[in-house]
Amino acid sequence: MTTTLAILKPDTISAGHAGKILAHLEAAGFRLRACRFTRLNGLQAEAFYAVHRDRPFFRSLVSFMTSGPVLPMVLEADDAAARLREAIGATDPEEAAHGTVRALYAKSTERNAIHASDSEENAAREIAFFFSEADLLGSE
Ligand code: CMP
Repeated sequence: MTTTLAILKPDTISAGHAGKILAHLEAAGFRLRACRFTRLNGLQAEAFYAVHRDRPFFRSLVSFMTSGPVLPMVLEADDAAARLREAIGATDPEEAAHGTVRALYAKSTERNAIHASDSEENAAREIAFFFSEADLLGSE
C-alpha cells in the first residue's frame, strides 16, 4: 500500500460536491488516512504550486486556490499516486475519461475540482506540506 495527496479545490467545496467526490474515491478503493478543512493564503498556494511558477496560468491558479476553503486529504491504495491520477482523469475536463471525477464534476482546466500528486515522490512532498507524521499515526 502507498499513499498520495488529493486536494478538493474551492470549486468543489462551494458547489457542495465534496461528499460525492470522497464517496466516489472510497468506492474506487481508496482509504482515507487523514484530511483537513483549510483555506490557503497566497504564500502557501505559491509554495505548493512552485513548480508552475513560470506558467502563464500561475497567478490565476493562485487566485483560484485561495478563493475559498479546500480539503486536502491523504489517500491510501496499491500504487495510490498512479491510481488516483487515473480515477480523477485529465486536467482538462473535456479530455477526462468518462466516469472520472473531473469528467463528472470539473468546470474547466483551472476549476477542475481536485488536485492529485503526479508521482510517488511528489506525493511524499505534498503530503508533508499539509500533514505531519503524527496526523498519520494510528490511521493505518
Ligand atoms: P492540478 O492538478 O492541481 O495542477 C496544476 C493546476 O494548474 C491544474 O490542476 C489546474 O488547476 C491548473 N492548470 C493547469 N493547466 C492549466 C491551464 N492550461 N490553464 C489554466 N489552469 C491550468
